[in-house]
Amino acid sequence: MNILILNGPNINMLGIREPGIYGKEDYNSLCEKIRKHAEKTNVNVEFYQSNHEGFLVDKIQESYGKVDGIVFNPAAYTHTSVALLDALKSVCIPTVEVHISDVSVREDFRQISYVRAACIKTISGHGTDGYLEAMDELIKHHEEKNEA
Ligand code: DQA
Repeated sequence: MNILILNGPNINMLGIREPGIYGKEDYNSLCEKIRKHAEKTNVNVEFYQSNHEGFLVDKIQESYGKVDGIVFNPAAYTHTSVALLDALKSVCIPTVEVHISDVSVREDFRQISYVRAACIKTISGHGTDGYLEAMDELIKHHEEKNEA
């Protein structure tokens, strides 16, 4: 099974940006933690992070036919991007939306998620462990689909 770990703007600044909200773990340690979980669960992971909306759209489109699931933290684009929603809807790849912080208790402008409508689940507020939970969710979804 191939899983894409897709991260939007400023996720490369983890560890530096607002540690009280996003924690002290940096982006490379997050990738390492995910890589270990991938080994344990026997899946292939690919990482992509971009600060540019169009590059994220391109990556989603390129994943068509190659990837079985996407763990997606669209970061600020969560709350603004119809283009990312449409890209996910175009490729129909099972996607889990992840947020490190609990967006439901934050500012009003974070209460809207455009991508959510194209995701099988949202995990929010579980810190970086949310990425691992999202992987498990996609693995479960993939196994159930193959059994059916
Ligand atoms: C975030 C929450 C978003 O509102 C914010 O813009 C981010 C990170 C999170 O992981 O908690 O950049 O997606």
